[in-house]
Amino acid sequence: MNQVFLDPDEEKILAGENGETRQKMLELLIALGKVFGAERLVRIRSAQVSGASYKTIGEYGLAWLSSLDARAVVPAVLNPIGMPRGRWEEMGIEPAFAARQQAVIAAYERLGVILECTCTPYYLHDTSFGDHLAWSESSAVSYANSVIGARTNREGGPAALAAALVGKTPCYGLHLDKNRKPEVIIEVPSDEKDWEIARYGALGYHTGKLVGNKIPYFRGISPNPDQLKALGAAMAATGAVALYHVNDITPEAKKNRFDISGLEVIRIEPAEVDRLFSEISIDAVAVGCPHCSPAELLDITRLLKGKKVTKPFYIFAAQGVIDSNRQTVTAIEKSGARVYADTCMVVSPLMERYAAIMVNSGKALAYVPDMCGAVARIGSIEECVAMATR
Ligand code: F3S
Repeated sequence: MNQVFLDPDEEKILAGENGETRQKMLELLIALGKVFGAERLVRIRSAQVSGASYKTIGEYGLAWLSSLDARAVVPAVLNPIGMPRGRWEEMGIEPAFAARQQAVIAAYERLGVILECTCTPYYLHDTSFGDHLAWSESSAVSYANSVIGARTNREGGPAALAAALVGKTPCYGLHLDKNRKPEVIIEVPSDEKDWEIARYGALGYHTGKLVGNKIPYFRGISPNPDQLKALGAAMAATGAVALYHVNDITPEAKKNRFDISGLEVIRIEPAEVDRLFSEISIDAVAVGCPHCSPAELLDITRLLKGKKVTKPFYIFAAQGVIDSNRQTVTAIEKSGARVYADTCMVVSPLMERYAAIMVNSGKALAYVPDMCGAVARIGSIEECVAMATR
């Protein structure tokens, strides 16, 4: 196993001069660095920590968090939890679950983690090209690497928390130039000018299954940032894609002019994507996976104007995005739809009560069946609103 070289400050932490928790956290980072061949640690700008929903971490996770004693030294936020903190009763969450979820949140608060529970931290905290990060949630990791050009591996919850408490992460994998090059070309021979977010999610769903953990380089598409978010989230769910490039669109594809000659080319026909938009009968609609951007909320308001929902319609976004788009959110909720912060359709027990859920996300299409025990159907945002209001 390789040696991870430490600077004098890191040596002091390892010697226990900054407390036992930080010492243990550094040991964890060094162990990871040894396994993955890191020669050193790199300073991070922020951390995003998964393992925040009581549904996923349970009593053991809560006990471990409660045993730690240190404070984050860089901005650190949480992945979505199992309920919206201020509106869990209205959502029908069991009081016993809510109490355990509150305990998890309190444990993170004690560790100095900012109580923003979202998979879209890039809407709330400046994240720039070249920043090193320790983020956990796969769609956030994909967006940071691909759309922003920042650098993060997909960290497990404990490793992201360790990085937050130490301020550093082992420098390997996607932190290094040599591991960020395209490995397979995805050719989409289609005029996708009319494509909307769900179709990019479906393209990502299909592509992730084909490429596994390779770094794809797309040609033939020109998605906007929300569409890139959907594409990357779905590829990270059905494959293990933590970085992708889009010709002339994503920052590294623009800057680096990668040499892609000789790479395998996979051609995707639009019909392969269309097949995912099949008919099933639906009893709830959920959008905001990853959490909605302000533009997506605005679009939903436009589509809901003058309509009332006839089946449960849930929309998920970061609390900070909801707070700064209050008028838009009020207009959406006037229809009977609900806009919830902190949580999402996958990590909350909420959606387990439905048998068939319509989503506009390739990632949710991949996760809802296993995590919520429901059948999922993907539709455009227009189709989702039409389904919720017909
Ligand atoms: Fe975010 Fe939950 Fe989807 S964490 S990416 S909304 S599964």
